[in-house]
Amino acid sequence: MLKPKIYVTRRLPQPGVELLEEVCDVEVNPDEAPPTRELLIRKVQDVDGILCLLTDRIDADLMDLAPNLKVVSSMSVGYDHIDVEAATKKGVYVTFTPGVLTEATADFTWALLMAVSRRVIEADRYLRAGKWKIQWSPTHFLGSDLTGKTLGIIGLGRIGEAIAQRARGFNMNVLYFSRARAEQEKERRLNIEFVPLERLFRESDFVTVHVPITDETKHLINEERLRQMKPTAYLVNTSRGPVIDQAVLTRALRERWIAGAGLDVFEKEPIDPNDPLINLENVVLTPHIASATTEARSKMAEVAAKNLISVLEGTPPQFLVNQEVLKVRPLSAVRMIT
Ligand code: GLV
Repeated sequence: MLKPKIYVTRRLPQPGVELLEEVCDVEVNPDEAPPTRELLIRKVQDVDGILCLLTDRIDADLMDLAPNLKVVSSMSVGYDHIDVEAATKKGVYVTFTPGVLTEATADFTWALLMAVSRRVIEADRYLRAGKWKIQWSPTHFLGSDLTGKTLGIIGLGRIGEAIAQRARGFNMNVLYFSRARAEQEKERRLNIEFVPLERLFRESDFVTVHVPITDETKHLINEERLRQMKPTAYLVNTSRGPVIDQAVLTRALRERWIAGAGLDVFEKEPIDPNDPLINLENVVLTPHIASATTEARSKMAEVAAKNLISVLEGTPPQFLVNQEVLKVRPLSAVRMIT
């Protein structure tokens, strides 16, 4: 049997490409940057599979140019960069890598929450600028306690739940809002209360958002919501930038409708170096790195490779996005590896 042809859009941590190379004919984009649209179009024309990242737009037009394409495996938990509906129609399997980045992402969310509320980055900048002149001051760099405060979690998926677990260690009250209410057993175990969004925004001292970006979640956090928040409250986003109306958030931070924000994701990535957020002190900004631990990224690459191989072996991949594709083109019809 001919080996499947695979295009990998970036160099990956091990073991990703190594696993693929055992059974496939693999080409890896050698650049640090994602392939340009032109390059991607050229490379996918005769491939059976693509292993991509969230920086690669895999839309219907691109898939039309890849008549042999059977699987798009993304090394990410989000899959908003892939037109899943079009893929399903074409019988292309779409896979992703949930689970293995949950703890890393929850840890980083917590790091942002603490960095902004305890002013860690601001204080670091102050010290490096040579401004530390008085040894200790009772009122210098005052931040906010976490203990006894209320945390509002929007979206109780894997990551939202991992956030709730961490909040227990800090003795916080946890409110949550989610598309579907959790089972009572889970609510009891995590000690969390399901509330309407309005109450979550009004009562929380910290709000953190863990939803995918969809038509319903775009600008979920808008002017109305930000105005409902306490002036002492903080907002954290490690999900997708467009969940927040960034222009309004910038105003909210500048005019102190809220105390601060920790943002790992933005409406436009990379953020424009002249973006007004960059000049604000009360926001911590990081370049979409919430899952960036050696362990998580290595696991993500491994899972992405294994998902792709499973499809081409004709066996159900561990993490399939579009279950309906099984009816459009059964696994037996995409099998290339024996
Ligand atoms: C990161 O944002 C991911 O979707 O994995």
